[in-house]
Amino acid sequence: MKRFMVCAFVCCVWLMVAGVTLAEERVYVGSKACEDCHDKEYANHVKFSKKASSFESIRVMRSKLTAAEYNECLECHTTGYGKPGGFVSESQTPDLKNAGCEVCHGPGSLHAESGDPDDIDHDLTVESCSTCHNADRVQAFDYKPLLFGGAH
Ligand code: HEC
Ligand code: HEC
Ligand code: HEC
Ligand code: HEC
Repeated sequence: MKRFMVCAFVCCVWLMVAGVTLAEERVYVGSKACEDCHDKEYANHVKFSKKASSFESIRVMRSKLTAAEYNECLECHTTGYGKPGGFVSESQTPDLKNAGCEVCHGPGSLHAESGDPDDIDHDLTVESCSTCHNADRVQAFDYKPLLFGGAH
């Protein structure tokens, strides 16, 4: 009986920890989920940022690429490809096909529910960009003037 109680207790704790971890996991939701509360940023992003059409840039070249080459493009030209809750395919995850808000601000599910600034990445630095804007790709990526370019 005692052993059963210990077992049950351990299970309870495990379930609680697992539940909290699941509830707090930030996953990608796509830029549209930001529109209601940040209509200005959203409108600017869609209108002026090339990221908002980054899927088109690779789609037009797809026929000239091998599958492996194409998959590499997805890492930078979509939102969250290869990461939990990120882009899978145009039909399965249409809202994540372009590089959206979350490539810079991180997965937005928690913040889009809470509106709490602590649930989203801000105070961005050059590291937020260099995964995609790396030296191979860009001759001179001058962070300061470019910080707001390409955003909103
Ligand atoms: C339910 C409304 C709501 C939604 C949806 C929402 N936000 Fe917010 N967001 C807020 C509020 C409220 C603030 C804090 C006040 C402010 O700075 O406007 C905020 C602040 C921010 C900030 C600034 C944080 C800071 O302190 O500098 C960023 C960045 C941000 N949101 C990004 C996003 C992104 C990206 C999405 C979509 C994934 C999103 N938000 C969706 C309500 C929302
Ligand atoms: C997930 C990859 C990724 C990250 C992270 C990223 N970018 Fe980009 N960015 C791109 C892609 C892809 C393009 C080109 C889109 C196209 O033309 O198809 C681009 C284009 C741009 C441009 C060109 C001008 C324009 O109108 O869009 C600027 C400027 C830019 N990004 C700035 C930034 C800055 C600053 C950061 C960090 C705060 C950043 N980017 C983070 C992928 C990324
Ligand atoms: C490591 C991240 C990364 C990968 C991988 C990547 N790109 Fe890009 N791509 C970028 C960035 C960043 C830009 C914007 C460069 C700039 O404006 O300085 C860009 C720009 C472009 C542009 C120019 C769009 C324009 O309007 O001028 C095209 C086309 C493009 N990429 C196609 C591709 C294709 C096709 C692949 C796969 C073979 C690919 N990219 C892989 C990051 C990447
Ligand atoms: C290229 C990277 C990038 C993208 C894409 C991007 N942002 Fe930002 N965002 C920034 C930077 C840089 C700041 C300046 C403050 C900081 O470091 O967070 C910022 C600031 C903000 C703020 C705080 C208020 C302000 O304007 O300073 C909000 C809200 C916000 N972004 C929402 C969004 C939303 C919504 C989207 C998509 C529609 C988006 N961002 C896309 C880089 C980006």
